[in-house]
Amino acid sequence: MATAKKATKKSARPKSSSNSKSSNTASTAQSKDSMLEEFFADELKDIYWAEKHLVKTLPKMKKAATSPELQQAFEDHLQVTMEHVSRLEEVFELMGKKPQAKKCDAMAGITEEGAGIIEETEKGTATRDVGLILSAQKVEHYEIATYGGLAQLARTLGHDDVAEILETTLADEKEADELLTGIAENNVNYEASQEEEEE
Ligand SMILES: [Fe+2]
Repeated sequence: MATAKKATKKSARPKSSSNSKSSNTASTAQSKDSMLEEFFADELKDIYWAEKHLVKTLPKMKKAATSPELQQAFEDHLQVTMEHVSRLEEVFELMGKKPQAKKCDAMAGITEEGAGIIEETEKGTATRDVGLILSAQKVEHYEIATYGGLAQLARTLGHDDVAEILETTLADEKEADELLTGIAENNVNYEASQEEEEE
């Protein structure tokens, strides 16, 4: 894919007009889609697909979980994830675009791996819960990377309103990740370490 060849390395600030190419003001930049703007919109479609996919995946993870804390965490995160979907729809609207999803291969892969963990572990075991937590944390870290990067990009592009929405979701994902760490440390990991393999 062609990248901006001579994209100025200069700064991440929307204000800066020290670009040799064009010294549009931030407001002009907003009215015309730059290459970066297109890229940003495309990445929004990717995370939109990912969140919608998670809405379908989380109930399966909840069903597979044994620890009540973990079941609750998946249930809560499902509610939060539905909010993330609506927030992204709001973001599309703010950008004057129709919400559109584009398959996110990374999220498809992580959740497929999670399905594999469910298959390979025994129902009702803490070991399966350990696997589910690991898988869920991979999801969270993917989302943290995505929202962190996109929020920053939104700032660069001068879409502060969008950035704020993305940052709110970013905070949710970080919180979910920490909650999962807590469940692993306090409830599940030790119990799993005591489980013996069945003949
Ligand atoms: Fe999310």
